[in-house]
Amino acid sequence: MCYDGDSPKGQRKPVVRVAILTSSDAGAQGLREDISGQRIRQWAEAQGWQVVHYAIVPDERGVIVDRLRQWAQEADLILTTGGTGLGPRDITPEATLEVVERLVPGLAEAMRALTAHKTPLAYLSRSVAGIRGRCLIINLPGSPRAVAECLEVLQPLLPHALDILRGSATGHPVSPA
Ligand code: MTE
Repeated sequence: MCYDGDSPKGQRKPVVRVAILTSSDAGAQGLREDISGQRIRQWAEAQGWQVVHYAIVPDERGVIVDRLRQWAQEADLILTTGGTGLGPRDITPEATLEVVERLVPGLAEAMRALTAHKTPLAYLSRSVAGIRGRCLIINLPGSPRAVAECLEVLQPLLPHALDILRGSATGHPVSPA
């Protein structure tokens, strides 16, 4: 977390550094527009957060692992999209599990449970969430609709989660910059 100046109360405002990783073979080949990645960017910026990294990569475990390891040193939050299903190439959860040091299962559980009333297919996402260092990494499913639904679930949870991760939990969530 870095800071962008003083808040009206004299407290420095934390700016959440967000990285967005889209896992998609078609997207990486330029065959599909990355609407989901764009939606995540718009959402993050609407929170007043700063998108510091963005990439589309193929569904290759090693490629995803390398990105996550590198970005975890430079971001407070990494949101991945895609590659969480049951397809033979879907590998994002396994790559994430290779990188994280501690799991945060409740976030993935919440995304599935709290969006299943919109589509029971939510349970087909194998998404995981966890922490590497002070970076929170969360898998989102790949479709733009799923991304929107899951971000709605995460929105009230992330500020306090990021506060705790930063080691400065005060009970006051991180507010938009
Ligand atoms: N979750 C929500 N909330 N809404 C959705 O439309 N789509 C599901 C699921 N999760 C969906 C969702 C579907 S159809 C699939 S196949 C899985 O996410 C995995 O998607 P992915 O492989 O693109 O990550």
